[in-house]
Amino acid sequence: MTYNSIVILTGSGISAESGLKTFRDNGGLWEGHAMEDVATPEGFARDPELVHKFYNERRAQLKTVKPNAAHLALAFLEERFHGSVLLVTQNVDNLHQRAGSKNIIPMHGELKKKRHIHTSEVADCDEALDPKGLWRPHIVWFGEMPLEMSRISEALQKADLFISIGTSSTVYPAAGFVTEASHADTVELNLEPSHASIMFDRAIHGKATEIVPAFVKELLEEK
Ligand code: APR
Repeated sequence: MTYNSIVILTGSGISAESGLKTFRDNGGLWEGHAMEDVATPEGFARDPELVHKFYNERRAQLKTVKPNAAHLALAFLEERFHGSVLLVTQNVDNLHQRAGSKNIIPMHGELKKKRHIHTSEVADCDEALDPKGLWRPHIVWFGEMPLEMSRISEALQKADLFISIGTSSTVYPAAGFVTEASHADTVELNLEPSHASIMFDRAIHGKATEIVPAFVKELLEEK
């Protein structure tokens, strides 16, 4: 089957082999913290110092990791595919961008950006943020609206192939993308069956660095 319009959704599993922890593989804690403490507006209001320290550490950690074969394969797909490829990521790391993906929507925000608390202006951020300052991490926390949802929905409507990679499919709205794209062929690439596995036409299980390059190769060889 020849495809023309691909939408790819990625989650933290694609960055696991680069050395970044996934969200739910460690007893529900993210780097030792409860999500309510570090990934909600209420947690930020309660303890801005802790939340800033947490994201400052995550941002600094990006300097110690690099894109893996799965990130690189998706950038290669975008470069070589004859049709359109939109990469929607739930990840806030910058590994897809560093691998060379261009048509990308980081729907849960980016560690390398900051947002002004009063004006909502978004700016690049390389530095550690100061809890006494007026900038917050540009991260979509639980209870907040993910970014660029209408652009994502439009692309899902037009897609003829939807691929979900390295996500447990537990967090909405991303977990619902497979339903929005049900007119398209749908494929899950994950270490193990996710919560949504049965919703997909096809599921391939294994390590992202192995199964993603193999699947990209298959797609590029199809005429
Ligand atoms: N290769 C492929 N998949 C992997 C690998 C790997 N090497 N390692 C782990 N996985 C899979 C796990 O089996 C799991 O299904 O990646 C998935 C990671 O799931 P989660 O930890 O739930 O992460 P994710 O789906 O990205 O979380 C979604 O939740 O906390 C919020 O906003 C946060 O973006 C995040 C969202």
